Amino acid sequence: MEKYDVIVVGSGLAGLYTALNVTRRKKVLLITKDKLNLSNSFLAQGGIAGELFESDESYQKHIDDTLIAGSYLNDVDALKVLVYESSHNLNKLINYGVNFDKDANGNILLTREGGHSERRILHAGGDATGKAIVDSLIPLVMHKANIDILEYSMVIDLIIQEDQCIGVKVLNDNKIKDITAPFTVLCTGGIGDIYKNTTNPIVAKGDGIAIAHRAGAKIENMEFIQFHPTAFFNKETGPRFLISEAMRGEGGTLLNVEGHRFMHKYHLLLELAPRDIVSQSIYREMYDTWSDHVYLDVRHLDPNFLQNRFPTIYNRCLENGIDITKDLIPVSPVEHFSCGGIVVDLKGETTIKNLFASGECADSGVHGANRLASNSLLECTVWGRRIAKYINELDTVLDRSSIVEEEVTISNYTYRDIRLQIKDIMERYVGIVRTEKNLISAKEVISKILNDLKKDRKSCMAYFELLNMATVSMIIIESALNRKESVGCHYRID
Ligand code: SIN
Repeated sequence: MEKYDVIVVGSGLAGLYTALNVTRRKKVLLITKDKLNLSNSFLAQGGIAGELFESDESYQKHIDDTLIAGSYLNDVDALKVLVYESSHNLNKLINYGVNFDKDANGNILLTREGGHSERRILHAGGDATGKAIVDSLIPLVMHKANIDILEYSMVIDLIIQEDQCIGVKVLNDNKIKDITAPFTVLCTGGIGDIYKNTTNPIVAKGDGIAIAHRAGAKIENMEFIQFHPTAFFNKETGPRFLISEAMRGEGGTLLNVEGHRFMHKYHLLLELAPRDIVSQSIYREMYDTWSDHVYLDVRHLDPNFLQNRFPTIYNRCLENGIDITKDLIPVSPVEHFSCGGIVVDLKGETTIKNLFASGECADSGVHGANRLASNSLLECTVWGRRIAKYINELDTVLDRSSIVEEEVTISNYTYRDIRLQIKDIMERYVGIVRTEKNLISAKEVISKILNDLKKDRKSCMAYFELLNMATVSMIIIESALNRKESVGCHYRID
């Protein structure tokens, strides 16, 4: 039976990067709910923000842009760490083999997105940055001798003893396993699937946030759910294909269904205003024109440039009958990113000893009330490295690490209707625009679902996912009720 020093939960960039940065002397178990490459990180298009070269002036501009986007609710110490450590971690990604896009002279190309006053976003594969990064890191993780990988296994709870995290309970086949280790790192990603429409993959159900909450960890800022302004619009619900903000960074404009540009009515930076403003402006414009979408127009850009720079978007739109070089792209805002999460300090440790978190499930404080585009992949690397560095420097006593198995009778409930009910409520009442009345209605429904679930525990993944969806929905609703003013992604029209 293997013994582990570190359990990493999740296989997006945060999980992969943390695992890779743990010293070879410590044994790591990386657990993921699905296959290794199913994550939000894999789907990231726009890029990764940061400064390749150390420069106080560039660092300061990046900090300023992030503060403006976050409505100054950011933790400044954490933000300085994010920006000042970007150079080291971006270069580390390059050393890991990530092939960022370059010009003919071999210089790395930089793009802009909403809220950035400078071109500081590195991208790869045109608009497939996440895939390029994850595809470079996965083989390294698979071949590193001190890392074991457990796929298709769901962490259903944390094991807490004497106020410390000592491991996880994992549902795998028809067994629940208690796997203990001196350190546990949650890198479970986003919460998108609790909404009807999202850019996230269906695995993103807020599992890490929910299990940390059940264990008593502090969760904050969950009212700040970021809606991406431009997801490809169609009548289907579920995961929606992202039309990267980088398209606006390269000159794309927004038109309402009457064919008029409108961002001048809302912000001086027009289409490159921070993301919360653009989503709220589109919402307003859709309302005023009785429509469920607007358009992104890139027809004025060079067709060859569009096809080379945005190959994924170009092909995906073509599959849906839209030639972006000639046609307007129908888009609408959908859930994209949770700015809050499990509170972590500068080491990445949560309020529970020996429990760490990194990536979207964590709240390091860097994002404030609205994340600046492309800061999230950067955050995965900066906190992943910090967590690993801290753990590497500590001595571990391995004899506490062990695996205990319990056979369970798996039930085959799917809870389809309740899942749809949660998504419907969250979309309608806890979306871009919120009122106290709607939030209270949402709370009534979700608390009933949550109570019923707690009374009738089942041993299957669908049960735990649903429990987590309801738990996270409840946290968001309560946070949204508590914050009476509009700020960043949290927009109260009452
Ligand atoms: C995008 O490509 O528009 C998304 C980038 C991000 O969410 O940071």
